[in-house]
Amino acid sequence: MKGIVFTEFLEMVEETFGLETVDYIIYKSELKSKGVYTSIGTYDFGEMLSLISNLSEKVNVPVQDLIYAYGLYFFKVLHSNHPDIIKYYKTPMDLLESIENHIHVEVRKLYPGAELPTFKIKRKDNESLEMIYYSDRGLYMFAKALIEKTFEHYGKNFNLTLELLKEDGTEVRFLISEPNGK
Ligand code: HEM
Repeated sequence: MKGIVFTEFLEMVEETFGLETVDYIIYKSELKSKGVYTSIGTYDFGEMLSLISNLSEKVNVPVQDLIYAYGLYFFKVLHSNHPDIIKYYKTPMDLLESIENHIHVEVRKLYPGAELPTFKIKRKDNESLEMIYYSDRGLYMFAKALIEKTFEHYGKNFNLTLELLKEDGTEVRFLISEPNGK
């Protein structure tokens, strides 16, 4: 997992829960990196899991809720680092449809060593899209947050349902549609 995902996560934890909580979860997680991350480095995903589960215990918020909250936060990071990628797309559906074949392809070039999910994407018509998420990391709540933020960014309404195709969240179907006339 890229360092930027760690540095921004710790930033969010600091903003929301304070520096003491950041220090506490780093100490508790017994990290190989010692919690020192550079945004271009690549680190073990297990470190993120330890940080999140220790945070969950400390602040008494479920892990999935924290992953979702981090996705909401991370959209801002993506937008400020890559405004051109987002501006390129005129609608949220066009952007989402292009994640696998364009956006994450570019990401792989910009962030060597990035660990990305795979999406199987089916555009049903102008108003609806099916996205099947596959990743050993099971960060589907992160994906849900990014999808929601994409619509918010374009000021569009949407309906979103998700179905776990595997219980551990490594395969998840998202059905996304825009209400008529919006
Ligand atoms: C400008 C648009 C985007 C950029 C630049 C971008 C970039 C990235 C980067 C840098 C990572 C971290 C890779 C790593 O840690 O090794 C990532 C992960 C991820 N991205 Fe994107 N992304 C974009 C849009 C989206 C959108 C709209 C979605 C929603 C469907 C999405 C879904 C994910 C997920 C779920 C992960 C976590 C990795 C996993 O689940 O295995 N991304 N992305």
